[in-house]
Amino acid sequence: MIRIAPSILSADFARLGDAVRMAEAAGADLIHIDIMDGHFVPTLTLGPRLVASLRGLTRLPLDVHLMVDNPRHFIPLFAEAGADWISIHVEASQHLHKDVTIVRDLGRRPGVALNPATPLQLIDEILPELDFVLLMTVNPGWGGQAFIPSSRAKIRSLRETIRARQLAVEIEVDGGVKPDNLKDLLDDGVEVVVAGSAIFEAADPAGVIRSMKDVAARAAQRRP
Ligand code: DX5
Ligand code: ZN
Repeated sequence: MIRIAPSILSADFARLGDAVRMAEAAGADLIHIDIMDGHFVPTLTLGPRLVASLRGLTRLPLDVHLMVDNPRHFIPLFAEAGADWISIHVEASQHLHKDVTIVRDLGRRPGVALNPATPLQLIDEILPELDFVLLMTVNPGWGGQAFIPSSRAKIRSLRETIRARQLAVEIEVDGGVKPDNLKDLLDDGVEVVVAGSAIFEAADPAGVIRSMKDVAARAAQRRP
């Protein structure tokens, strides 16, 4: 199943509820929420109280992307707030298996996120424990950056590994995804597509979500 996950990082923070309602009405499958701590990445964004508020106004799963040092400290806070998917950066976790297990034991879907320069080999051991891998296709910290072209080979390599090992791990991509590169990424084997600026900086955000859903539906038909 291909899912479109609008990232509210690029929405108007004074009207986040409206952004989430719009995304749900337009057919979004997940809401992607970027958590930044000013350490792992330079800036600050959102916290568990905001997640709890959004939990109350949408039925869509909340996909919490933890760009934080010491993720262990934050996992229970976001799980309690209503996060459904929780991704932890491999670069930020000292005990990744433990952190992933905590997410799983809290009844949430665990994922591991990798920065663009982080090799896939670092998740060889943890891969069977995951529901998804989040491949950063820009350097984390900001919306609106250009997609890093070498990411496509990394996506295909991960897809091949998952297939060869007969795992059910989904691939999520995050950063620089636009309607015009979406088809290629889906053909590379991506299942979950994050898009922030492409949606929320567009004149017609709902129209962009609907057109991305159309591209996804056509890609799904091409899949074996
Ligand atoms: C960046 C975040 C992304 C961001 C993507 O660190 O993880 O989720 O919102 O934004 P776009 O789609 O504008 O590249
Ligand atoms: Zn993100």
